[in-house]
Amino acid sequence: MERLEVKKLNHHFGFTEILKDINFTLNKGEVLSIVGPSGGGKTTLLHLCANLLDVEEGSVINTFKSSSFAFQEPRLLPWKNTIDNIALALIARGEKNSEAIKKSKEIALRFGLKEEDFDKFPKDLSGGMKQRVSFARALVVKPSLLFLDEPFSALDIGLKKELQTILIDMISKKEISILFITHDLMEAIRLSDEMLLLKSDPGYIVKKFRFDLAQNERNDRYVYGKSAEILQDEEIISTFELELK
Ligand SMILES: Nc1ncnc2c1ncn2[C@@H]1O[C@H](COP(=O)(O)OP(=O)(O)O)[C@@H](O)[C@H]1O
Ligand SMILES: [Mg+2]
Repeated sequence: MERLEVKKLNHHFGFTEILKDINFTLNKGEVLSIVGPSGGGKTTLLHLCANLLDVEEGSVINTFKSSSFAFQEPRLLPWKNTIDNIALALIARGEKNSEAIKKSKEIALRFGLKEEDFDKFPKDLSGGMKQRVSFARALVVKPSLLFLDEPFSALDIGLKKELQTILIDMISKKEISILFITHDLMEAIRLSDEMLLLKSDPGYIVKKFRFDLAQNERNDRYVYGKSAEILQDEEIISTFELELK
């Protein structure tokens, strides 16, 4: 079975200990989120898992057949238009141009882009549209594992919900596994099967929570209810003391 297994992972930048004894497993078909305050080492952890940073101590075993990444900022190529930005990864892995364009258009529409946006360059797209392109680009390759680094945090609430709904649809159809990093507790409750709480200085996992209700059956009431319940937890209160405003 495809899985991502992190064991006894430590990380330092210079003399600063950033992550300490991180252990978890993400199994195929699951959404695992790691929640913690800004500066707590979440991005570092995700980069170690995605092999964007070398593991120094401990191990990361990733047996997923393929993976892709969506970042907090869309990171589009300014000299390529919407469709060419999306098609990039397909073409890079040798797919026929016409086929890559066809698939890119389909997924662009699924992510709420319009035909009139297909030829536009990033400078002529709004922040929200760029993030739609970024998601489409990450998912057009049909990765078995998706790494998400706070991809919703710069979005307004309507678009955030819309993109989350598309992901939830994929999750419910078991099309994808996700490792999701966020500082937003409610976002994590809405999307994940399991949520790990990462406390900082150095980053270590203090608590794990499981949510058994299917993502497509979670409404706002469920998310607010769970948040309220979890916010009673001492560990959560001390982890988020600066974030609860
Ligand atoms: N390449 C780097 N070199 C040195 N320090 C870094 C580097 N990347 C991140 N850090 C530091 O590591 C800590 C954790 O950062 P990060 O993983 O980005 O946290 P988060 O994503 O939770 O906000 C921060 O103090 C940050 O300044
Ligand atoms: Mg980060």
